[in-house]
Amino acid sequence: MSAEMNTGPVNATNEGLAIAVIGTGVIGAAWVSGFLAAGHSVTAFDPADGAEERLLEQVKANLEVTTGIKGSQLDRLVFAPTLAEAVASADFVQENGPERLEVKQAMLAEVDAVAPEKAIIASSTSGFSPSEISAEATKAPGRIIVGHPFNPAHLVPLVEVVPTPGASAELVDRALKIYRSIGKKPILVRAELPGHVVNRLQAALWQEAYSLVNEGVVSVSDIDTAISYGPGLRWAILGPLAQQSLSGGSGGMRHVLDHLGPPQEVWMHDLKQVHLDVDLKEKLIAGVDDELAGRDSAAIARQRDEMLISLLELKTRYEELP
Ligand SMILES: NC(=O)c1ccc[n+]([C@@H]2O[C@H](COP(=O)([O-])OP(=O)(O)OC[C@H]3O[C@@H](n4cnc5c(N)ncnc54)[C@H](O)[C@@H]3O)[C@@H](O)[C@H]2O)c1
Repeated sequence: MSAEMNTGPVNATNEGLAIAVIGTGVIGAAWVSGFLAAGHSVTAFDPADGAEERLLEQVKANLEVTTGIKGSQLDRLVFAPTLAEAVASADFVQENGPERLEVKQAMLAEVDAVAPEKAIIASSTSGFSPSEISAEATKAPGRIIVGHPFNPAHLVPLVEVVPTPGASAELVDRALKIYRSIGKKPILVRAELPGHVVNRLQAALWQEAYSLVNEGVVSVSDIDTAISYGPGLRWAILGPLAQQSLSGGSGGMRHVLDHLGPPQEVWMHDLKQVHLDVDLKEKLIAGVDDELAGRDSAAIARQRDEMLISLLELKTRYEELP
């Protein structure tokens, strides 16, 4: 079957779809929570001992902070004894197994062999391309896409959707609609690149941050202050490019690029490559240890999540912003 044979949604609104979630660790549990909260039914599979109990516990915890646990949500969750049973009647599969290429290839080949023809198969892979992970699939590899979420994935709306080069527009459109149906903000990535787009953007920033720490220009905690009390505040509201245009006043982006583009180019060309050797790793680890000394990391994660929820609520009040 080719990707073109995916013949549209099983219902017009993408509500009440049959979702299969394969691999129910940190990310899989977040997807299960999001699909249940939006009214879909979920069949989950994970071969680890105790996975079913852990999933239920994590889903309850996630739902408590997002929608609150509502009557029928958990009734729509089934844990299947095998991968084949989990995907047998799925409209949409979200795979979240370990980030090892040969494992992804084997899992996705099995999913492709048994999932219904109409099903889209998405992988949460952080960096492999859809062509790489679908290499062992033989039935309809063109329907295997990347749907890459961001931790904590029950809260952060972004999903990067990366199709294979030959995937049909209809399939891509259907995947985007399904993600939107659970409140996600998908972006379409039009080329297969290591790390997709967003991990590359993060890597660009990490590269310079690591280099500046390595050179002793600033401390680890200075880097974190610089972003979280500086540009990071603005980026969460507008994103770096729309934000940059505001620096041009009434002249907008054209003025910024004419005025500050030339010095910016000097800075860009001065950025250093870094190698994560033992010395640099130790400096970064010691720096973060210093910064977070005496604090409980679970408490920090909880506070981060509370602030994220407040920020997302605030963003819904300014829907005219992009
Ligand atoms: N953790 C993150 O921040 C993050 C963010 C975005 C994407 N991802 C991606 O999501 C995927 C899952 O990452 P995670 O952090 O949830 O890992 P995790 O270790 O928490 O979960 C992986 C799960 O896969 C299960 N598993 C192992 N073999 C399996 C098999 N054959 N079939 C089904 N399940 C199997 C394991 O039992 C485990 O529960 C990875 O591809 C990762 O790159 C992770």
